[in-house]
Amino acid sequence: MSEARIIDGKAVAESVRDEISARSAALLQSSGIRPGLAVVLVGEDPASQVYVRNKDRTAEACGFHSVKHTLAADTPETDVLALVEQLNNDPAIHGILVQLPLPRHIDESKVLRLIKPEKDVDGFHPVNVGLLTAGERSAALVPCTPAGSLVLLKRTLGQDLSGMNAVVIGRSNIVGKPMASLLLQESCTVTIAHSRTRDLPAVVRTADIVVAAVGRPEMVRGDWIKPGATVIDVGINRLPAPELGEGKSRLVGDVAFKEAVQHAGAITPVPGGVGPMTIAMLMVNTLTAARRQLN
Ligand code: GUN
Repeated sequence: MSEARIIDGKAVAESVRDEISARSAALLQSSGIRPGLAVVLVGEDPASQVYVRNKDRTAEACGFHSVKHTLAADTPETDVLALVEQLNNDPAIHGILVQLPLPRHIDESKVLRLIKPEKDVDGFHPVNVGLLTAGERSAALVPCTPAGSLVLLKRTLGQDLSGMNAVVIGRSNIVGKPMASLLLQESCTVTIAHSRTRDLPAVVRTADIVVAAVGRPEMVRGDWIKPGATVIDVGINRLPAPELGEGKSRLVGDVAFKEAVQHAGAITPVPGGVGPMTIAMLMVNTLTAARRQLN
């Protein structure tokens, strides 16, 4: 069998960002509104610092008003809540993102519930979760990683995914559950697999679409993939790579790429697949939030 087509998430993300820049410029022209994004980082987690810097830079490149709030790891919960409240009431801010994970002394759910649903560009507020689950996707803000994964699927398979068997591996609130809701709304037959699933390889072998979001490096093996299936690898895992030099590491997904590429019809690489789409979709959500707050 021939090798899978590699889904170029970097290129798709670039075209999404270009479109958002153009639409943001048009909004500024027509109504004087510049979409505003506030990103809040509590603590010094290095991976979170990289993400937050990228979000800030991309927002600026799209012509948005972008503000970054960096708070010390020992900031009291009340201070974080007060900052969210202040951003909720700031008319120049249309989107608020609090980078996760938060330090242990802060109640994540309390913080996320305080964000106004119409400014919740992560789509984590129960109101947005409810709208998505109820099938009212057009009224919701949809979590960025699943939304970006769906864009890649449609670019690969076309707009009509109905009747396809989709297996989502992972049941997180950030990826697995919203991904399953989106695929269900596309009329896929959806299975959510997780750490307690029996005979995971057999479940994955039924899938026309596999979305791997478990956070375990190269867990999904090539011979689990039905020939011709489309594989979306959401995992970003850093592994030590002494072969590249002392102290070096490399990024791998949740799928054993070299094996899976021999079976799949199309597959996202890591890096350069889903990762760049997440930030691009954050820009989409911020622009959507700004347009909705106009009315
Ligand atoms: N941490 C890891 N992924 C995400 C995400 O999508 N949003 C936020 N806010 N934090 C994260």
